[in-house]
Amino acid sequence: MTTIDTIPQNLQLNAPLHQDRYLVNNELVQWKGEMANVYSPILTPNADGELEQTFLGTVPNLEEKQALEALDAACKAYDKGQGTWPTMKVADRIKHMEAFVEKMKTKRDEVVKYLVWEICKTLADAEKEFDRTIDYIYDTIEDYKNMDRDSARFEKNGGIHAHIRRGPLGVVLCLGPYNYPLNETFCLLIPALIMGNTTVFKPAKHGVLLISPLLEIFKDSFPKGVVNVVYGRGRVVASPIMKSGKVDVLALIGHSSSANALQSLHPKSNRLRLVLGLEAKNPAIILPDADIDLAVSECIAGTLSYNGQRCTALKIVYVHEDIADEFNKRYTESVDALKFGNPWEDGVKLTPLPEPGKVEYIQELINDATSKGAKVINAKGGELLDNFIFPAVLYPVTKSMKVYEEEQFGPVVPIRSFNKIDDILDDIADSNYGQQVSIFGKDVDQLSRLIDTLVNLVCRVNLNSSCQRGPDVFPFTGRKDSAVSTLSVHDALRSFSIRTFIASKDNDYNNGILEDLLKSKKSNFVSTDYIL
Ligand code: G3H
Repeated sequence: MTTIDTIPQNLQLNAPLHQDRYLVNNELVQWKGEMANVYSPILTPNADGELEQTFLGTVPNLEEKQALEALDAACKAYDKGQGTWPTMKVADRIKHMEAFVEKMKTKRDEVVKYLVWEICKTLADAEKEFDRTIDYIYDTIEDYKNMDRDSARFEKNGGIHAHIRRGPLGVVLCLGPYNYPLNETFCLLIPALIMGNTTVFKPAKHGVLLISPLLEIFKDSFPKGVVNVVYGRGRVVASPIMKSGKVDVLALIGHSSSANALQSLHPKSNRLRLVLGLEAKNPAIILPDADIDLAVSECIAGTLSYNGQRCTALKIVYVHEDIADEFNKRYTESVDALKFGNPWEDGVKLTPLPEPGKVEYIQELINDATSKGAKVINAKGGELLDNFIFPAVLYPVTKSMKVYEEEQFGPVVPIRSFNKIDDILDDIADSNYGQQVSIFGKDVDQLSRLIDTLVNLVCRVNLNSSCQRGPDVFPFTGRKDSAVSTLSVHDALRSFSIRTFIASKDNDYNNGILEDLLKSKKSNFVSTDYIL
């Protein structure tokens, strides 16, 4: 049981955090309307000693009017391409970003504390999420400098001088997911900002208070209206923003159904660019010559890190029938050895689930599969404790089961056995998703054929290792309902910008003007200055 004295000092909650302000036009506007309560999935004793979800604080439930005010602020800051931010010298935008990240680093403890309480990420993973985000910002700055150095020149072709750079797209609506409410949201927001776009950002449904310590920093680090932060229900806040037709980029990490609903509201579909990281059903394929110990340890991390609540999680395991018994035995032993507890306890791997109704959903998947012939093959599978459910390993799973089709995004692992690899390739080709795959084995003849096909069905083939997004310099994308655009430190800068250039015929008249433009340093775009 969680009692106050079992909570480490640095994670103790002093008082509920009432975040009654939102950020529009660099003003922290006080909201006097309806507030939404924020609870932690971690149970603590109330005044009567009964265990209940810990009350963490409140956030505004803004309405359409405030959402549109935030949009208006972002539009004014972009100012039809004339705004201070989109026309600013690259070197100066970088200075704003450097100021932001320096201040953000001072908020590590507060942000990590709320990451742990709000979404039950283990303390180590919460710290990793924060540090990884800081690294991402620094890497983005460095990459943008490189990109700018490459553009600090003129090129000549067909008698035309061209000075080509990447320019911003306009106003970005940015929506992140609850499982990485800091990192994934910032992997959208930061590249969008540094490229000169202006933004309206709505924190994820769970993992919302952790943004509070950063509001002042946004306000102090960027010009008016460049970053606007709104709170509330997606339908009330995001829908009118999309309907206005003024959004140039929908940047969303979440479910394809939300992305589809939001983009369909936009009246000008060719104006709207999409940067989407969506759901996936990444398979693990265990070939007959696989190193079983290695496959087991990678599949444990791949299927159940953060209780399986990762878009990159392994969500279905295919094991060759010759080794299925051995793999299943060792894998289920390892699953049952995983420690459940509060996120700050040593060695804890499994924690309570933040989404209301998630335990019931996982149970529904288990019941559906077992009613159709699968068994829960690990001893602890499906054990319940309030808002926690112990991971259930289901075998043998067939295509008629919901857990085969749906992205479970939680602690249940479907296993299928196979004897013909072509059947799996057909399954992957027929799937709605196409993010990544893991293959375990060593026979080069078999691997080469598999790799050559799989790279055409997904966007990352992991050899003898689980699926993952990182390192963040590598391209992160997917096919079909798994993604639109590519994210990575470098690719995200491209996704949030467009190539745009000045061209002039090579003659004395134009060349003289170009030279004057360069010498005068009056244009922030026409510049061959080299950022060190
Ligand atoms: O939820 C999806 C994340 O992008 C996964 O990232 O592989 O680093 O956990 P990760």
